[in-house]
Amino acid sequence: MQPSPTTATRTTAHVLARAVNTPLVKALGHPWVESIVRLDAVEDALSALHPLLSLTQVRARVLRIVDETATTKTFVLQPNALWASAQAGQFVRVQLEINGRRVERAYSLSSRPGARRIAFTVKRQDQGLVSNHLHTAVSVGDVLTISQATGEFVLPDALPANILLLSAGSGITPVMSMLRDLKARNYGGDVVFLHVCRAPDDLIFAAQLQALAADFTGLRLVVHYDASAGFFSPQVLAQHVPDLNTRSTWMCGPAGFMDAISAYWDTQGFDKQLFSERFVGAPLLPSTAPGTPVQVSFANSGTTFTTSGTDPLLVQAERAGLTPKHGCRIGICRSCQCVKTSGTVENLQTGEVSSAPNELIRLCISTARSDVALAL
Ligand code: FES
Repeated sequence: MQPSPTTATRTTAHVLARAVNTPLVKALGHPWVESIVRLDAVEDALSALHPLLSLTQVRARVLRIVDETATTKTFVLQPNALWASAQAGQFVRVQLEINGRRVERAYSLSSRPGARRIAFTVKRQDQGLVSNHLHTAVSVGDVLTISQATGEFVLPDALPANILLLSAGSGITPVMSMLRDLKARNYGGDVVFLHVCRAPDDLIFAAQLQALAADFTGLRLVVHYDASAGFFSPQVLAQHVPDLNTRSTWMCGPAGFMDAISAYWDTQGFDKQLFSERFVGAPLLPSTAPGTPVQVSFANSGTTFTTSGTDPLLVQAERAGLTPKHGCRIGICRSCQCVKTSGTVENLQTGEVSSAPNELIRLCISTARSDVALAL
């Protein structure tokens, strides 16, 4: 938890970050400098100086947390000077340390591109490690580490004349950013924004949608409540939007919803394109009993070995002839940290088992509990 800095301190932090970033990072990457000074150590020192300071990472202070519904919150952030920009529909990866384990999740930005502050919106999932942590442990003033915005689910520069933005549940977040973008770009075409949720209490961005609908010529807002209007289907969509085939469509929602709409598009043979964004939660992969033979692959070196040992992955990799970077070998210095792209590992210090993709793990305190792929 960090105290909120004064404006002057924040400005100083941004100026410093800009001033030292490129030349210093390049210098630190030079082989002979790297042998004396580790970038990790420099990052730790900068972070101690000011939590927003970093040479390589986008860090963002939580300015506001908005309760959108009983289970959904929007986190409004002020990023440091390394933040580049975002297009409507893109997402960021939020990195957190929870119970000593580094985890990462992707969240769509709900803010307007070009806004001074960025925002992402999170629905709390029953078993969601990260969504529960964000909802219960993150407060105004905290600093989060996020990636640059990424993703192909975006609006084109040249906008079509007729647009449908279609969403269900928490899938509303990227299309809300698109709607805000259309408004900011003074879009003069015809846009239907159709959202599906269970009941009025579940409508995320309710007030903002009403405000936009009142002030956006060319926008037709349709909200379908399953509880009162019945189950939403492609046929119901066609009733709400009879000119579907004239509209380029951007869609985001649960898998079943998007599968049904995509199948309908195919069977109707619509010419207009249907763009969609799918988010998959962290899969709960089955993990094997300790000692079961599993394959560990190091993608960058193209090395794969089979192990049935319960030793740390660092030890097993060394036995296989690899030489991963390391320092303390007890989980403190993070020198051995790398991205596990898939598979299940056990943290030997906490006993926690995790299957989350693209998760940062420390090789010296992790062992494989299924086939594991590492970006190393
Ligand atoms: S070697 Fe230090 S954390 Fe793994």
